[in-house]
Formats: sequence, structure tokens, C-alpha cells
Amino acid sequence: MARHKVTVIGAGNVGATTAQRIAETGLADVVLVDIVEGLPQGKGLDLAEAAPVVGHDARITGTNDYAATAGSNIVVVTSGLARQPGMSRDDLLSKNASIVKSVVEQAARHSPHAILIVVTNPLDAMCHVAMKASGFPRERVIGMAGVLDSARFRTFIAEELGVSVVDTHAFVLGGHGDTMVPLARYSTVAGIPITELLSRERIEALETRTRNGGAEVVALLKTGSAFYAPAAAVAEMVDSILLDRRRVLPCAVLLDGEYGTKGLFVGVPVVLGERGMERVIEIKLTADEQRSFNASAASVQELVDKLPA
Ligand code: APR
Repeated sequence: MARHKVTVIGAGNVGATTAQRIAETGLADVVLVDIVEGLPQGKGLDLAEAAPVVGHDARITGTNDYAATAGSNIVVVTSGLARQPGMSRDDLLSKNASIVKSVVEQAARHSPHAILIVVTNPLDAMCHVAMKASGFPRERVIGMAGVLDSARFRTFIAEELGVSVVDTHAFVLGGHGDTMVPLARYSTVAGIPITELLSRERIEALETRTRNGGAEVVALLKTGSAFYAPAAAVAEMVDSILLDRRRVLPCAVLLDGEYGTKGLFVGVPVVLGERGMERVIEIKLTADEQRSFNASAASVQELVDKLPA
């Protein structure tokens, strides 16, 4: 039986780190694609030469040619421009939309049965572009945002309480960005809601830090944006799909009436399995939470409306 194959488009920071994580788990062979000649080949070769030392035998190749991506089980889209300091995600919209459209069209032609994981920002809008460019059903177009956002929230909660991040779980809904909706009452430490462990003020401070999590890293790095945590988040999604683990992870998916929203990619908890998004898990929100969710969905809609036709 052939090993699974994952294509990662964009051999920049997020793409190359994602390729490394996937290969090192031995889960799949990886094809790294970029528009810049030599970049994916160089990083692919370097990663392949690490394999004997790390002790895995996944094959990693780099290419500028989509023919080499044929028959991929998963295609991860990270190509695009990264956010610079002072640049909002929205500034990136039209440039990244044309990049995502072109790479997804080519990748989908060579891997018509693949599951697409979209990473390029602004995330929720890029999911719409990817879905249209691929013609894939909603089960096979999934945006990576919630795993990263909730990982950031988990990090801050665990740090505040002086407990392990492993025992700390967080629930984040909504679009990826300033309007994301961290749900404190479903965020827990060893099953205990954080509302029992932290004051309202502290929770709000951690939520605000989570909403600005990407910008905080950008401001520190000065050139480029976060990539270790985004790559780890993608690898977790890939693992759940390829092993049909059915992890319940927050992802951006096209809603079809769930949470009162239709025809829009917004972050919600989903079951990730071999068919991609197996189902959306819907919970009842309080009136306040639903208002925040609606506001978040409205800001995604605003971006989608600005997309080129
Ligand atoms: N086809 C293939 N690759 C492309 C194309 C294209 N049309 N256009 C750009 N790229 C490549 C670039 O050459 C670069 O190598 O995409 C890569 C992007 O890498 P980085 O600039 O290092 O950006 P990175 O930090 O990896 O972020 C990528 O993920 O988290 C998001 O906001 C982030 O949208 C950004 C994306």
C-alpha cells in the first residue's frame, strides 16, 4: 500500500515547517511547492537530508511543477504574502486571493479527490476563494485557524494558572482575527471551566491577548509572522484526517445553517476524519455569545464581499 501523500504549497516559513512536522511523524510523503525556483527544491533536499538523523523515511521532494503533486490525499495551501508589522490581514486580501486562486486551480486539477487545508490569510476569505477555485464540496475545504487560536488561548490560560498546557483546553469560535469568539465557559483545566478558576477581568485580558495573538508575534519578529504554532496546528489536522482519528477541532468550514449562518466560512468545532469535515458540532450559545458570533460572521462576510468576482 502506498504511503499517504501531502502537498504543501508555499515553501516559506509556515509551509516548510509544516512539511518538516508531517514528514517527521512518518505520516505521509511530502511534496513542497513554491513559485520561486530552487526554494522548494533546496528546502526539500535539506529536509530529506535530515531524515536519516531524525530517523524517519518519509520522502520529501520540492518542485515548481504541479504534476509532481498528483494524487495527493491532502493539499495544504500556505502560499501568499505574510503579514508585515502594521499591515492588517485585510490589506492582504486581493493579493492573496489571486495567489490562492491560481495555486488551488492547479493543485485541484492534479488531485481531484484531495482534502484542502487553507492557511493563507485572511483565512476565512481565502477558504471561499479555495472552494470556488477547486469546485470541491464543503467537506473537503477546511481552514486552519481555530486550532491555532485555541492553542494560543490554552497557552495563556496555562501560564496564568501555572498548570500544564496539556490539561488546558479552550473553545474558540468565529472568524480568524480580531472578532474571534473565545468561549470561556467551555474552556477548561482538567474539566473545570476557567470561569471557576479565574476572575472575569483576567479571563477578558487573556481573551484579548488571544485575539491579538498573531499581531503580538508579528510585532516581536518585525519581519514575517508566526509559523511554529501555525505549522503544528496544520500537522494536528493532517494527522486527524489521515488516521481518521475524528478529533474534534475548531476549524473554518462553510456553514449550512449551523450557528444560524449559511454560505459563509466561519470557525466552529468539527469532527475531522478521513472524509475531511465529517460533521459540525453545534452547541447552544447564550444570547451574548450568539451576538459575538454573528458579529464575527459579519466581518467575514465583509471581506468576502470585497473579493474579486
Ligand atoms: N505559488 C506558489 N508559491 C507562492 C506563490 C504562488 N503563486 N506566491 C507566493 N508563494 C510563496 C512565496 O514564494 C513564499 O515562499 O509562498 C511562500 C510564503 O512564505 P512566507 O513569505 O515565508 O510566509 P509564511 O510565514 O509561510 O506565511 C504564509 O500563512 O499564516 C499565513 O498569514 C500567513 O498568509 C500567510 C501564509
